Amino acid sequence: MAPLFTPFTLKDVTLRNRIVVSPMCQYSAEDGLIGDWHYGHLTALARGGAGLVIAEATAVSPEGRITPGCPGLWNDDQTERWQKAVALMKAAGAVPGIQIAHAGRKASANRPWEGDDHIPVGDPGGWDTIAPSAIAYGANLPNVPREMTLQDIARVQADFVAAAQRAYTAGFEWLELHFAHGYLAQSFFSTWSNKRKDSYGGDFDGRARFIIETLAAVREVWPAHLPLTARFGVTEFAGDDDLDEGIELVRRMKSTGLDLIDVSAGFSTPTADVPWGRSFMAPIAKQVRDATDMPVTTSWFISTADEANELIATENLDLVSLGRPFLANPHWPYDAAMKLGVEGSAWATLPAQYAHWLDRYRSE
Ligand SMILES: Cc1cc2nc3c(=O)[nH]c(=O)nc-3n(C[C@H](O)[C@H](O)[C@H](O)COP(=O)(O)O)c2cc1C
Repeated sequence: MAPLFTPFTLKDVTLRNRIVVSPMCQYSAEDGLIGDWHYGHLTALARGGAGLVIAEATAVSPEGRITPGCPGLWNDDQTERWQKAVALMKAAGAVPGIQIAHAGRKASANRPWEGDDHIPVGDPGGWDTIAPSAIAYGANLPNVPREMTLQDIARVQADFVAAAQRAYTAGFEWLELHFAHGYLAQSFFSTWSNKRKDSYGGDFDGRARFIIETLAAVREVWPAHLPLTARFGVTEFAGDDDLDEGIELVRRMKSTGLDLIDVSAGFSTPTADVPWGRSFMAPIAKQVRDATDMPVTTSWFISTADEANELIATENLDLVSLGRPFLANPHWPYDAAMKLGVEGSAWATLPAQYAHWLDRYRSE
């Protein structure tokens, strides 16, 4: 039995297996335009056999980029480049997905290999950041953002809608809204970053409002037959226990039209005490799944074939997402199939061009 290698259908989209490439920034775009690096990267991942490949955090506006090297979906040239990436991913049999994002107060940073810190305020290579409140993240990201006006909020929500439309034009079949990791949407929900006194802050409803409104607006334009999903930090691992609130927001997202949730952490404060460890988010994802009856995935240190298969077999997760294991080995799914000793129909969920030769071949 290899449940990892069984198809999964959500709306009108069927993934050939339960393996997802988690979105991973490449910091290699210019003016928000992807290029040859991305084509090679995404092709390799799709050819590697994952059912779904989610392209990296893609900014809905220039100021929403994490770094100057982050891609965007705010103009037609960018859409055209993504169209080519989509064709390459589809040719390899993967469902093409994209994560659209606004980095909020974590924007205007240097690439990780160039410091991973904020570009100093006033430096021509950086830009002014915006957030629910004028509070810096701290640590390596000290820049103080400007508190967003109601007009700013409406404009960013319209940017999410326009980016979703462009994602559809480019041919993406799976859309993930980045509501996690201390970026703009998460920072509206988190009490660490949202101290607003108006209707976008304060109690649960106020802090949830930006996310719910943005989701509802995107759902209006993203086709009903295609999955609309979100990545969301259900807990900050900091201060008071906030998981119940996180789960309640997932429930509300579900009733607003969300189809699946990628369960992650909030990362809204550098003081968080994250219990890093092997597949540490999986039990939390299971808790979200049980409480909301929403299909779930998660990532974070799920790396072995046995572990991934077990998480699907025990119905902890509907899909398993992997990031760094795919950087180490874009062909992780073939390797997993060999290690699990799967046969027949399981191999049929991988591209035949390679799978045919690896069936019955043992990697160890
Ligand atoms: C190079 C790199 C870039 C990443 N970029 C993103 C991103 O664009 N969006 C996102 O939600 N998570 C991003 N992440 C987090 C991954 O999607 C994933 O959740 C994380 O690496 C944990 O999974 P893993 O232990 O399998 O690597 C990134 C991680 C890495 C290593």
